[in-house]
Amino acid sequence: MGFLEPTKICKPGVFLLTKAVFSDKNMGNLVEPERIVPWMEKIAVYPGFFDPITNGHVDIILRGLRLFDKILVAVLKNPKKEALFSTKDRVAMIQEIFIRQPDIEVKAFDGLLVEFVRFVRRHKAKIVIRGLRAVSDFEYELQMALMNRQLDPEIETLYMMPSVHYSFLNSGVVKEVFSLGGSVTGLVPEIVEKKLREKLKQGRLSVGK
Ligand code: PNS
Repeated sequence: MGFLEPTKICKPGVFLLTKAVFSDKNMGNLVEPERIVPWMEKIAVYPGFFDPITNGHVDIILRGLRLFDKILVAVLKNPKKEALFSTKDRVAMIQEIFIRQPDIEVKAFDGLLVEFVRFVRRHKAKIVIRGLRAVSDFEYELQMALMNRQLDPEIETLYMMPSVHYSFLNSGVVKEVFSLGGSVTGLVPEIVEKKLREKLKQGRLSVGK
């Protein structure tokens, strides 16, 4: 039986110094000389449409950082799906929210999610994280996770529960409430509220969008 025991914690891109420890029931622990193994940065991809991002999404991203060194927020560019905000705006809003967090990156993608994850896998990403708010999310999420696994068995999907404060929240509800004059303060980041106000002034925010 053997395992590697880290002796030095290094930054990403650096190497990790480890000791191999082998235990033998007669001789106790035998420690091999230190060896060097490459540091593996743990990256997760958090995909979504984010039209717009809500505090529920922000909550999942920050929870993800407890488990991963970096979260790559993947914003779906989907010309078939009607969006209130352009892909560029959706990406820019998320970038602005996390401007002081170098461990959160935002990129747009189109086509299959697994293709995008394969592309970033060169940078060691093979985990997709998704938020699961309620049982009602489960069927769709199960179908998506299993389909993605069918397409690429190397990719795992990890589900995280948002804070209970956001368990009722989605982008559609935010747009509908705001368009009808309701307050979304505390439910979306400030930049999103500002952009929603601009859309309302331009007459581009109506129910159903
Ligand atoms: O915010 P959403 O709408 O819940 O996000 C859904 C998203 C973007 C994760 C999903 O629609 C997706 O991955 N689309 C890319 C196309 C794809 O890979 N489809 C196969 C998964 S069933």
